[in-house]
Amino acid sequence: MTTLTLFPTTVYTARLQRTAWQTFNRRLLAECLQLREDDEAGQRWSKKNYPGGYTSYNSVARMYDVSPTFAALKTKLDRHMRAYVKSLELDTTDRELAMTDCWVNVMPSMVVHSWHLHPLSTISGTYYVQTPRGSPGLKFEDPRLERFMAAPPRKASCRVENKPWVVVPAEAGNVVLFESWLRHEVPPNASKGERVSISFNYGWF
Ligand code: NI
Repeated sequence: MTTLTLFPTTVYTARLQRTAWQTFNRRLLAECLQLREDDEAGQRWSKKNYPGGYTSYNSVARMYDVSPTFAALKTKLDRHMRAYVKSLELDTTDRELAMTDCWVNVMPSMVVHSWHLHPLSTISGTYYVQTPRGSPGLKFEDPRLERFMAAPPRKASCRVENKPWVVVPAEAGNVVLFESWLRHEVPPNASKGERVSISFNYGWF
């Protein structure tokens, strides 16, 4: 008897680099916090769309074009993206995936980023710059959930691949990649400090 596992949903996690990520993160953190001070358009947009937090998503969304530090981050992330694409066995012979945007998120205590996906992109991800103790992780939802008619709940002790929701912890120095159609949220920040992350998208057209 054989049980096939078909149509897997994968999430990639890795350290950005083996050594010296702390030094690199200090530079990134300083730039993220400076941007929050300087980016008035972003402050206005965040006030409406990201209450209590700051994001440059709608104002400075190509950080690698304006900062050499972020350009260096892009080069590092490109390597992880290629490893993930390889594991997904995507055929990118004719056109490689390229980063299309990259923005800053500063999430103070009790701020939330509710369920969403990243339309118009192929692979999305986040790099963690600062994650105070108690910071929320990235919560993913089973993409088949709306088709589960009359399905009994899963056992509380079920394997991770059978859980309807899975939280990937946010840890400074780590990168998380996923396919852009996968719905995710950041639950309320239960820590007292500011959780700082950099999000990005890759596309192939
Ligand atoms: Ni997202």
